[in-house]
Amino acid sequence: MKLDSSVSAVVTGGAGFVPSHLVDRLLADGLRVVALDNFVTGHARNIAHLENHPNFEFIEHDVSEPFDVAGPVDFVFHMASPASPIDYVQIPVETLKAGSYASHNALDLALKKKATYLVASTSEVYGDPRQNPQDERYWGNVNPVGPRSVYDEAKRFGEALTTAHAEAHGTDTCIVRLFNTYGPRMRGHDGRAVPTFVRQALAGEPLTVTGDGRQTRSLCYVDDTVAGILAAGNRAMIKPSEFTENVSGLMARLVPDYFDESEMAVFTGDAEVGIAFSKLAFDHLIFTGATSVVIAHIAIAMPALARG
Ligand SMILES: NC(=O)c1ccc[n+]([C@@H]2O[C@H](COP(=O)([O-])OP(=O)(O)OC[C@H]3O[C@@H](n4cnc5c(N)ncnc54)[C@H](O)[C@@H]3O)[C@@H](O)[C@H]2O)c1
Repeated sequence: MKLDSSVSAVVTGGAGFVPSHLVDRLLADGLRVVALDNFVTGHARNIAHLENHPNFEFIEHDVSEPFDVAGPVDFVFHMASPASPIDYVQIPVETLKAGSYASHNALDLALKKKATYLVASTSEVYGDPRQNPQDERYWGNVNPVGPRSVYDEAKRFGEALTTAHAEAHGTDTCIVRLFNTYGPRMRGHDGRAVPTFVRQALAGEPLTVTGDGRQTRSLCYVDDTVAGILAAGNRAMIKPSEFTENVSGLMARLVPDYFDESEMAVFTGDAEVGIAFSKLAFDHLIFTGATSVVIAHIAIAMPALARG
């Protein structure tokens, strides 16, 4: 798909840590982006560099209250929610509203604009899991009145509402359960392990290890989390009529030595097959860290993923 300013994305919570990186990536990919935030845990400095960006608009708003944006919208990324335990225990009701009222408002916008809706859920939906690692077939071990319930239950409700919208209204939806993400723009005192270690190390202080130190965490660098979010949504980002240009452009960039005009022809065949292969190629690149994918012809002139 040719990504340009005719494709629009709304990002709730756009001044937050992960969402501001998502905004950067969407703008770099050429989209028009509208970000909404009430700065309850985010900060204007995270988007200050975008102040004069021609494709960027910021609206200060509490998305737990209804909202609208002007013009067409192709994607709604609902990212707004307090995410650090330090934050959500201080603002428990706001946290529950971000998963419920704000999810409802963002889904309503997606429905009205016929946009694809993608929500940032969390590994916390598994509660205090009895299975490690967790996969989507595991439903969790959750306490609705426990110390983290305001976050866990808000996110679980948000997932249920998303599923209901897809079934009741046919909204194109995608739920992404993020695990611990780290990177630039995290707040040193937000209570999470990585920024705490970094802050203490930079100050020459002892590193605080809670518990017996044998806990495990799944950690992901923020650029990779953003890439994963977009990979999850990429079946929507690549539209059948436009995927030829997108995939051939990607391949030309990634594998210039292997790419020639004749190979472009393979992408003009069946759209569904092309999308399936392109998704496989994207996922392969993103999740294996491979730097190349070779596309080869097969008998019916369809691309086949040969090796990475
Ligand atoms: N960072 C992680 O490791 C992680 C893990 C799992 C899930 N998530 C999810 O990813 C999203 C972003 O997390 P983050 O770590 O970047 O947190 P963050 O606090 O840095 O970002 C959240 C942003 O949402 C904004 N916000 C919250 N409630 C709002 C409201 N009612 N109206 C408008 N803006 C509002 C905040 O001001 C903030 O800018 C959250 O939905 C979170 O649950 C993050």
